[in-house]
Amino acid sequence: MNTAQTLTINGMELAFEPGETILQVARRNQIDIPTLCHLKGTTPTGACRICVVEVERARTLLAACATPAGPGMVVRTESPAVVAARKQIIQLMLSSGNHNCAVRGSDDAEWTAFQLKVQTEDGSDELCPVWGDCRLQDLAYRYQVTGEAFPATPSQYPMETVNPFIVRDFSRCISCGRCVQACCDVQVNNAISFGYRGPHSKIIAAGDRPLKDSDCVFCGECVQACPVGALVEKDVRYKVRPWETRKVRTTCSYCGVGCQIDLHVKDNHVVKVTGAGIAPNHGSLCVKGRFGYHFIGSDRRLTTPMIKENGQHRPASWDEALDLVAEKLGHVRDTHGADAIGLLTSARITNEENYIAQKFARAVLKTNNVDHCARL
Ligand code: SF4
Ligand code: SF4
Ligand code: SF4
Ligand code: FES
Repeated sequence: MNTAQTLTINGMELAFEPGETILQVARRNQIDIPTLCHLKGTTPTGACRICVVEVERARTLLAACATPAGPGMVVRTESPAVVAARKQIIQLMLSSGNHNCAVRGSDDAEWTAFQLKVQTEDGSDELCPVWGDCRLQDLAYRYQVTGEAFPATPSQYPMETVNPFIVRDFSRCISCGRCVQACCDVQVNNAISFGYRGPHSKIIAAGDRPLKDSDCVFCGECVQACPVGALVEKDVRYKVRPWETRKVRTTCSYCGVGCQIDLHVKDNHVVKVTGAGIAPNHGSLCVKGRFGYHFIGSDRRLTTPMIKENGQHRPASWDEALDLVAEKLGHVRDTHGADAIGLLTSARITNEENYIAQKFARAVLKTNNVDHCARL
């Protein structure tokens, strides 16, 4: 092994490529370094410091997500100094805002007060909408800390619930900035940014207006990136627990891109959609793919062909409907010529179906009048 291109992590000598960070080398070798602000594919901000590691001869602990691997480095990812630093960071985050899940104190009265507060603020007797699906909660358990070490800092900003898709609960925000990176660097929508300063810091849209009055296109990338309960899909909030659903991987049916999605299914109903982290979309979705799933279980879906007679639709069999369409198209072609017919197809069907449709137009109807909404 060429020592110029290796470093040592937890006693293991590991090769690295120039430009790789300590975090990348560790993850490639199944060494777990916790992260909160790090968003894969974007420039590290080093905002949360939860990924700190000890590097021999460095004067301070270094953020693994933002520190390039160097030849001969000796890194420790869970040394006593590292664990102490991570505990303090988690304690500070838990005491800032409304993080009442993993921080139950020994005092039962205080616990009840927490529940009452949440009930008043959220209109729910549940504690947190992402209980069991929160990176900060995971870390509090992993490092066995509560939020009691520091005085609680109350949240300053009220919840935003005025758009149809996303609830923004600033009291649970840990200012990691992942939503900003997801919006500005991944989706390049530039709808949100950090606003105000220091302890008044807040993620704002359009000069601190509601998302619905900003450039937000409701792609939901920020919700998927948020590691805590600060951004939650409105339809899911307090209705579905993460462990109550099973995921079904499928392809989004809205357009020809073929985004890979995970349908979250509870009691045989789709209750949420997330982007799968593989090609072609690598986790990203548009508003239709992420939030437009209610049609799946709609009782207004057509289940049989309908024939319009005297202004009224009536159910028909497929044979009857197809015979009628064949007869009408044949009549138009024979009376007015094939070019009186045009065929419009759709990006919501597959390439194979579109191929068959154009073949039908050219070979059967004898017209080249074919068009498609996604031909650009
Ligand atoms: S956001 Fe996470 S840490 Fe905060 S209360 Fe909810 S589950 Fe707990
Ligand atoms: S929903 Fe999309 S556009 Fe709107 S703030 Fe989030 S990432 Fe930006
Ligand atoms: S809203 Fe979520 S993703 Fe954005 S800064 Fe707050 S905690 Fe991080
Ligand atoms: S994950 Fe590295 S600083 Fe936040």
